[in-house]
Amino acid sequence: MLILVNPVGAGKTEGMSELLARHRAVMPSWMPLYYENPMEIVGGKGARVTDAEGRTYLDFFTGIVTNMLGYDVPEVREAVERQLAKGVVHTSTLYLIRSQVELAEKIARLSGIPDAKVFFTNSGTEANETALLLATHARGSDEVLALRGSYHGRSFGTVAVTGNKAWKNSSLSPLNVHYLHGTDHASPAFRHLTEREYIDVCVADLRDVLDTTAPNVACLIAEPIQGVGGFAMPPDGLYAAYKEVLDEHGVLFVSDEVQTGWGRTGTSFFGIGNHGVTPDAMTFAKGLGNGFAVGGVVARGDLMDGLPALGVATFGGNPVSMAAAGATLDHVLEHDLQGNALRQGGTIIEGLRALRELPCVKDVRGKGLMFAIEMVDPATDAPSSVLAGRVLEAARERGLLVGKGGVRGNVLRMAPPMNLSTEEAAEGRDILLDAVRAVAGQA
Ligand SMILES: Cc1ncc(COP(=O)(O)O)c(C=O)c1O
Repeated sequence: MLILVNPVGAGKTEGMSELLARHRAVMPSWMPLYYENPMEIVGGKGARVTDAEGRTYLDFFTGIVTNMLGYDVPEVREAVERQLAKGVVHTSTLYLIRSQVELAEKIARLSGIPDAKVFFTNSGTEANETALLLATHARGSDEVLALRGSYHGRSFGTVAVTGNKAWKNSSLSPLNVHYLHGTDHASPAFRHLTEREYIDVCVADLRDVLDTTAPNVACLIAEPIQGVGGFAMPPDGLYAAYKEVLDEHGVLFVSDEVQTGWGRTGTSFFGIGNHGVTPDAMTFAKGLGNGFAVGGVVARGDLMDGLPALGVATFGGNPVSMAAAGATLDHVLEHDLQGNALRQGGTIIEGLRALRELPCVKDVRGKGLMFAIEMVDPATDAPSSVLAGRVLEAARERGLLVGKGGVRGNVLRMAPPMNLSTEEAAEGRDILLDAVRAVAGQA
């Protein structure tokens, strides 16, 4: 039987609707595509991408907070090309990998975790699975605390600690999970409280869970800023207050830095630093490889070494992703991109705050180059994923790619490349202002 791999035939450019139909036929229905007319990105340079129809966009979502240096970065490309030229893409961790050791040394040092060790994986999900394994083994317990609204991945264990129904495929769980407050200050139950009072209420709830509900908790796993959760931010200091209580009970703290690491928040190299907390373990992925698949966990050495059985992640720490990640991290450090995130993010967020006067905008928030706009129905003040969807489309029409998130799907979230220029920052901000105002005008 003859199988046509490309039914359109060589040389003929296929339209988006044909590709979409083929996508829908063979890809899972639960893997979402953006836009009423989904796009195919075929090129990229700096902070811009080009689609198959030749349109160029400024990219403020960077492949879901992943291309943190943007596209076609010479240092990253050359580092990967140098490795490819050696003829070795993969060796396995049964052999010494110099670039892996060097990157682990850097991450261990940057983490601030005492005597830290690093295990490399291929994704954030796998990194969180590893952290959960370390903590549950160390504490001899399957009890885990997580936050409402969290997202930690798509495997059985990480779905179990995900507090976001839209991304939670199963309530069956390998873990006993208790959900804490922390990002719901705006909810009717808490919105009358000051930030300090809200932190006190959250901490009292944590104490209550530990005293009355959960006899032997292994760890708290938490995102410093909830990514998929719509960049929902616990008040600064919440995690320090949580940590005090956790320490009293010997409960470990795992910070999921998959979106917040590497200086993106501007004010701290890892998001948890904004709370003055040094966790027992941190997980990372996304931005580190600037698009190459790399994730990992950095943890206290005794915690990491505590596992009784052997373990490898076959592709984890492979020479190609290590080359990409090493070059990316060096670029971030050498160009002080944390400082750039603080500067550019600060001006963008400041500019976007003007949108708060619109009845359909509930909130404008962010830290550094991680910022969000929350949309509500102006008539009812209810979260509006419809209006968020319209802004997503309106931004695209104006040449800007942004993301969407939030437990109710009503938040626009932006995470531009961390080397964004002042001009690009102003361009993106102005497009956002215009897109939201246009949508508000029709709402
Ligand atoms: C905070 C956080 N943790 C974990 C993950 C899972 O990472 P991955 O998709 O690489 O498995 C994500 C992905 O969006 C994330 O945002």
